[in-house]
Amino acid sequence: MAWRGRDQAAGIAEVYRTFARHEARGRSPAYQALAEAVAGDAAVLRFLGTLPPEKRQPNLLFAAARYLLGAPADITRLRDLARRNAAGLSGLMLARRTQTNEPARCATLLPALAQLTPPLALIEVGASAGLTLLVDRYSYDYAGHRIAGRDPRAPTLRCALRGPVPLPAQPPVIAWRAGLDLSPLDVCRDDDVRWLSCLVWPGEGDREQRLAAAIATARRDPPAVHRGDLLTDLPAVAARAPAGATLVVYHSAVLAYVAPGLRQRFADTVRGVADVWLSNEGPGVVPGLPPVPGPAGPDEGDPFVLARDGRTPLALADGHGTWLRWLPGQA
Ligand SMILES: C[S@@+](CC[C@H](N)C(=O)[O-])C[C@H]1O[C@@H](n2cnc3c(N)ncnc32)[C@H](O)[C@@H]1O
Repeated sequence: MAWRGRDQAAGIAEVYRTFARHEARGRSPAYQALAEAVAGDAAVLRFLGTLPPEKRQPNLLFAAARYLLGAPADITRLRDLARRNAAGLSGLMLARRTQTNEPARCATLLPALAQLTPPLALIEVGASAGLTLLVDRYSYDYAGHRIAGRDPRAPTLRCALRGPVPLPAQPPVIAWRAGLDLSPLDVCRDDDVRWLSCLVWPGEGDREQRLAAAIATARRDPPAVHRGDLLTDLPAVAARAPAGATLVVYHSAVLAYVAPGLRQRFADTVRGVADVWLSNEGPGVVPGLPPVPGPAGPDEGDPFVLARDGRTPLALADGHGTWLRWLPGQA
């Protein structure tokens, strides 16, 4: 039995080392150091081994620790928390999910949405709190090209351009919008808002302020986010969309959470209900999408691919919407 525990701990340690090297590096020195420390900490690894595999993720552990401690953890406080309040920590990790809602991803989606025939009816699957449903309310600054949003109090999303991008003069007209999520977060519930803010990593510039401003925007007129599974409940939400609008189903940072063997089923469902399907996901996640040219340099990391209808890659984008590179021939 002891060797099995050692194997399990080694596997979890590798997940944390990979997270440190490939996800936190360059974004959050504090979480890079914390993930490396967890990888070498027998007590925290033992605690993680008591959880189901899908609940051992660094993002979930660090957000739960931040929620309980009231501040981002370091390894000493994390080890202490896992020892003294293992039940509270595991209870929170079992009850919650990684549902980071990054409004700046709207800066990636906007140029593709603006090319469609208005008015638009939007369905976002994996919408979390619905902050990425408010594409028309935010303002934008694409390296000096400014677009005024429909809510003058909403934040301005800044996005660097890497080459020419087909930018609109104004946001598209949105006639209707709805989200679908396994576990919708409610922007009007303080506890959900606190969880959302705990999911932001320390050291990531203005993300916390942007999140707070986007939540304030959503609270003025909250978008509907329905509880359900994108694999089974999309047709019911689509049936509520008004006639006479272009029905767009989209998602960002969601399909990685769906088992690879089930993604084709989702693709078939979307094609059956949507006029247009937009995906903004990591490479290799959307089934059947042709490969795209790799990142232009090491600073582009593993970019997201913005694609239409599961067939046509449109652009490469930072996973958090900070830069956008349109692919040749797609403007
Ligand atoms: C990382 S968040 C992304 C939120 C938002 N799309 C964004 O870009 O900011 C992923 C969301 O997908 C949801 N999700 C994962 N699997 C799902 C499924 N099978 N059906 C519906 N929602 C799902 C999660 O609950 C979570 O809120």
